[in-house]
Amino acid sequence: MYEYQINNSFFAQVPGMMETLCEEELKELGAVNTKVAYRGVYFEADPTALYRINYTSRMISRVLAPLLTFQCPNTNILIKTAEKIRWEEFFSVDKTFAITASVAKSQINNSLYASQCLKDGIADYFRKVSNGIRPDVNTVNPDVRINLHIEKDVAVISLDTSGESLHKRGYRLLAGEAPMQETLAAAIIRLSKWDGQNPLWDCMCGSGTILCEALMYYCRIPAQKLRTNFGFFYLPDFNKEIWENLKAELDSKMRSLPKGLISGSDKSQKMIEVAKDNLSRLPFSDSVDLSTHPFQHVKQFENGTLITNPPYGIRMGEFEDVQKLYTELGDFIKQKCKGTTAFIYTGDPVLRKSIGLKTSKRVPLVNGKLEGVLVQIDSYEGSKKRYYAEYKAEEELLKKKSEAD
Ligand SMILES: C[S@@+](CC[C@H](N)C(=O)[O-])C[C@H]1O[C@@H](n2cnc3c(N)ncnc32)[C@H](O)[C@@H]1O
Repeated sequence: MYEYQINNSFFAQVPGMMETLCEEELKELGAVNTKVAYRGVYFEADPTALYRINYTSRMISRVLAPLLTFQCPNTNILIKTAEKIRWEEFFSVDKTFAITASVAKSQINNSLYASQCLKDGIADYFRKVSNGIRPDVNTVNPDVRINLHIEKDVAVISLDTSGESLHKRGYRLLAGEAPMQETLAAAIIRLSKWDGQNPLWDCMCGSGTILCEALMYYCRIPAQKLRTNFGFFYLPDFNKEIWENLKAELDSKMRSLPKGLISGSDKSQKMIEVAKDNLSRLPFSDSVDLSTHPFQHVKQFENGTLITNPPYGIRMGEFEDVQKLYTELGDFIKQKCKGTTAFIYTGDPVLRKSIGLKTSKRVPLVNGKLEGVLVQIDSYEGSKKRYYAEYKAEEELLKKKSEAD
């Protein structure tokens, strides 16, 4: 028996600052005995829940099934112990594989070298049991992914039950200049509590990630509807019948999108073409309205949900223009969005301040390497006020944090 089979225990890797959100989602999908860790959640799940989590989770990155945990002070022990796993129970020599490794506070302190040692160990194992034949390594698109984590000289070898990272949905072949990670867009939609009762608009939609995730959420399209290869297919106890029944059941719950419920616009025609291309891979996307214009040209957007991710203004010389854009967005929300709640994801406190409206909620979230904040602006009526105290407090906090770093 492998370790994951003893307690049905797994580890979900999750994007930074999304641990609690992901724990909530895992529980909804059938995980039990969850425990939040740094950038991850430990949980237990039966095979049905494991397949459901991989097929439908919108926020987690991958799920690892631990095979073996052992004391690992050096690479000889790593190679020798890895041979105890009967690798042919997981995959055959005609499949390709890849290793991802991480090391922390251990005598083995080079993750690349550790992954090469494990790779060699697995290759040698196959040579022994398969008449000198070994499976090939493919680091870009392998059939099977194996994860090695060594912390304080304790190694865990796991099979990645997701395969490719779950943020890859398969709809985004083209990206814009600063695309939002799919898992982050899904988290923002969840945090907005948008339930399809009012129209959703992304007024700076770029490559359309927020639109695609809103469409998938509303239409109950499983997040991995477009994926054909999952890592859990390679578990020795993979049950094809349970998987196929579950998939059919989840697919049957999909529903169509009312025309115009979701819309997106961008001032760039090129970005609208990219958004159109990405959306085209998803069912029901014909009902998403797309148009090319700056949001400043829109007459009004009342009683809806505005979710957007304006430019970050990171490039040299761009900042002042972007600052002006944020002020115009604030004015637009104040003057033309009666009854609308806005959710704006930004990376820079100065830009957030430039919006100039009171925020009712702030949630720190990470987009790749960028730390940003999702701000909620409730329907704004009344005179424009700048809440300096609130911004000052945030600036103070960031200053302290950077001093501490
Ligand atoms: C950070 S990107 C959005 C990325 C998007 N969330 C994605 O996943 O691809 C910001 C977008 O704002 C657009 N933009 C900038 N100023 C605009 C304006 N005044 N009106 C509409 N779109 C604008 C840019 O063309 C760009 O596509």
